Amino acid sequence: MGKTTISTLNRMKVEGNKIAVITSYDASFTQQIEQAEMDVILVGDSLGMVVQGHESTLPVTVADMVYHTANVTRVSEQCMVIADMPFMSHGTPRQALDTAGRLMKEGGAHMVKIEGGRPQIETVRHLTDRAVPVCGHLGLMPQSINQLGAYRVQGRDEHAAERILTDAVALQEAGAQLLVLECVPALLAEEVTRAVDMPTIGIGAGVETDGQVLVLYDMLGITSDSTPTFVRNFLADTDSVSSALAAYVKAVKDRSVPAPEHTFT
Ligand code: KIV
Repeated sequence: MGKTTISTLNRMKVEGNKIAVITSYDASFTQQIEQAEMDVILVGDSLGMVVQGHESTLPVTVADMVYHTANVTRVSEQCMVIADMPFMSHGTPRQALDTAGRLMKEGGAHMVKIEGGRPQIETVRHLTDRAVPVCGHLGLMPQSINQLGAYRVQGRDEHAAERILTDAVALQEAGAQLLVLECVPALLAEEVTRAVDMPTIGIGAGVETDGQVLVLYDMLGITSDSTPTFVRNFLADTDSVSSALAAYVKAVKDRSVPAPEHTFT
């Protein structure tokens, strides 16, 4: 297996081969993830909640993201590594370029992820014009929790669904090469996936996205207070972290996750 690149992911979309993505924040889990033949690792700002114990992702700093991304890239060999741009680290295109530069040069990330649609278009274009690969993130955007009031499904009414669809197309036009869709109805995720050429990665977004991502600690069942309803506990059916990761990769590839009970309508 060669190293996963954006060309690999584009080919997988065209050929209908599902993309397996998981979050990681340190070297030891990353080695296990690599052995499971995962395609992509996301160093998510979810680390603010599952590693640092905060109530949201908002307190995560650029220095935190650089530190954890470097922990991952130091040992990863085959996986493509995406790093989250944390809250308030990309308020202007100039600030975004500084942040992305640190995540790539010091952290070793291959791509950065930015939450948001239309308000981020100028920033996404600024980055992609300067050789920074960008992954968009639409639907439930945890950095907006104080505007949303709760972590809940997005895009259920016609106007909100249309907005997600047009934002996805606008992100692609601005140069984004990958898109995370979080907590949206399965039919909407399918529609977005068909509307864009870039691969889509779903989390709580049904089985028709081009790939799936889960927060590592959620799928190992060690975040019991806050595990989202769309997550299957893969450690419950196996006897080791490595078997749970292998079962997750297999389930993504054979489309058995997310199951109907883990899907929003
Ligand atoms: O921060 C994160 O882990 C994420 C995933 C939930 C997609 O953005």
